Amino acid sequence: MLRATLLAASRSPQSRKLIEALPPTRAIVKRFVAGDSLDEAVTVTDELVGAGRRITLDHLGEDTSDAAQAAATAEAYEHLLAALKETGLADRAEVSVKLSAVGQFLPRDGERIALENARRICAAAADAGTTVTLDMEDHTTTDSTLGIARELRRDYPWLGVVLQAYLHRTEADCAEFAAAGSRVRLCKGAYKEPESVAFQKKSEVDKAYIRCLKVLMAGEGYPMVASHDPRIIRIAGQLAQWNGRKSDSFEYQMLYGIRPEEQQRLVDEGATMRIYLPYGNEWYGYFMRRLAERPANLAFFLRALATR
Ligand code: FDA
Repeated sequence: MLRATLLAASRSPQSRKLIEALPPTRAIVKRFVAGDSLDEAVTVTDELVGAGRRITLDHLGEDTSDAAQAAATAEAYEHLLAALKETGLADRAEVSVKLSAVGQFLPRDGERIALENARRICAAAADAGTTVTLDMEDHTTTDSTLGIARELRRDYPWLGVVLQAYLHRTEADCAEFAAAGSRVRLCKGAYKEPESVAFQKKSEVDKAYIRCLKVLMAGEGYPMVASHDPRIIRIAGQLAQWNGRKSDSFEYQMLYGIRPEEQQRLVDEGATMRIYLPYGNEWYGYFMRRLAERPANLAFFLRALATR
C-alpha cells in the first residue's frame, strides 16, 4: 500500500512540487545522487573507480514530453562520454540511458526520435571506448525498448539491456538475451505494475529472479546481477560457480549510496562490482522509487523532516 502510494506520487507533478520544496530533501537526495553537475559526477566516479568499483552513470531525467529536451539529454550524454574519455575513466565507467528521457513518449515519432538519440549516445560511447545500457521503465515500454535495443545491437553489439524479474514475460526474454556477447542487467523491477503482467508478492518476485538468473548464468551472455538482496547475491555467486564463470564473466551491480559495505566486501572478494551513479537535477522520480523500495529509506527521510 505504502509502496503503491509512493510510486503513484513519483509520477505526480503536485507531489513533486511539495517534496522538492521540503527543506531537508536535498541533503537526503545527496545520499543517492552524485550531484547536479557533470563535474560532480566525474569526481564521484573517479573516487569510486579508485576504490575498485566500475560505474554506470545515469544523467537523470525521464518521461520527456519535449523533442528539444530529448535532444538536450542526448547532448548531455555526449559531453559526459567525452569527459570520461578525457579523464581516462572510460575503461571503468559506462552510461545508463532511459529511452523516455530521449523521446520515447513523444506523441509524434517518439520511438524513432528515441532510437536516433540513443544511436548518438552509442556512437559517443564507441568513440570513448565504453558501453551503454538501456534502463527499463514500466511494462508499457518493454516491447518498444527491446525493439530499439535489437536495432542498435546491429551496430553496437555490446549494448546492455535491463530485464525485470517481476514481469511474467521475463523468463522468456532472458532466454532470448542470454546469447553470446549479450549484456543483460537483471533487476527485480521498480515500477507499480498490474497483476495481469507482473508478480505482486516479494516471494514470487524473488523466485522469478532466481529462475531468470539461472537462465542467464547458464547462457553465453554477460549477466549483470542488479540487486542489494543478500540472498540473491549469495545464490548468484553459487550459480556463477556451478556454471564455471570467472569474476570477469559476470558482474554485481548496486545503486549508489546503498549497502556500501557489501559493495566493498564483493570488491575484496575479487568480484566485478558496478555502481549505478545518477547525477543531475531531475532526481525526483528516481528518489521516490528509492523511498518506495525500502521503508527504512522513508523512515530516514521522515526523521530528517521531524528533526528540523
Ligand atoms: P529488495 O528491495 O527486494 O530488498 C531485498 C533485501 O535487500 C532487503 O530485505 C535488504 O536485506 C536488502 N536491501 C535492500 N535495500 C537495502 C538498503 N538500502 N540497505 C540495506 N539493505 C538493503 N529497476 C527497473 O525497473 N529498471 C531499471 O532499469 C533498474 N536499474 C537498476 C540498476 C541497478 C544497478 C540496481 C541495483 C537496481 C535497478 N533497478 C531498476 C531497481 C530494481 O528493480 C529494484 O527496485 C531495487 O534494486 C530493489 O530491489 P533489490 O533487488 O535490491 O531488493
